[in-house]
Amino acid sequence: MKTLLVIAHPRRNSLTARVAEIFAGSLEGNGHEVEWADLLEENFDPVMREQDEPDWDNSRKRYSAEVQREMARIERNDATLMIFPVYWWSLPALLKGWVDRVWNNGWAYGDAVFPQRRVWMIGIAGNRAEGFAAKGYDSAMQTQLDIGTLDYCGVRERRLELLYGSIEGQPFVDQILIDAKRIASEF
Ligand SMILES: Cc1cc2nc3c(=O)[nH]c(=O)nc-3n(C[C@H](O)[C@H](O)[C@H](O)COP(=O)(O)O)c2cc1C
Repeated sequence: MKTLLVIAHPRRNSLTARVAEIFAGSLEGNGHEVEWADLLEENFDPVMREQDEPDWDNSRKRYSAEVQREMARIERNDATLMIFPVYWWSLPALLKGWVDRVWNNGWAYGDAVFPQRRVWMIGIAGNRAEGFAAKGYDSAMQTQLDIGTLDYCGVRERRLELLYGSIEGQPFVDQILIDAKRIASEF
């Protein structure tokens, strides 16, 4: 399977990037091809402008060249894997803007469904799992991302995983890396 690995983090030496490397290594070890999409390094512009706004009366609207390029790289892969730090119980703005602009009307939803059957989202969270559960942030993210984005766009093989405690010390970091290996082996 060919997989687009989308990462949105300001540093390549981050824990998020280490998790992405684990996924890439595991996928390649299992015979997948991995194409990296490092949105920050590529200077992807997350701001929605008029050219990429959906036209509700025209699902065949021609979007910007940048968005067409992103659509093409999704279409030439069989699956997408997004790996990101959790910001404000959600996606970082860079990745949110990528979804806003690229997962567009007439291509990902509306009279279309997202062109791949498998999309996984892996979020690295600073706080512990108990903190998420206590306030319902985990179920809020599940609803927003798994149901509100992946299911909304007709993705059949979808999965959202949160890896917790990245800023809570080494034992938590070690556990994140262990969990990343396990989840990657299930891709
Ligand atoms: C702007 C910003 C917002 C954040 N919001 C959250 C949050 O809502 N919940 C959380 O658990 N961690 C939050 N964090 C912590 C990040 O998730 C954490 O820095 C990241 O998981 C650490 O991994 P890294 O080394 O790859 O950056 C936030 C960090 C930043 C910079």
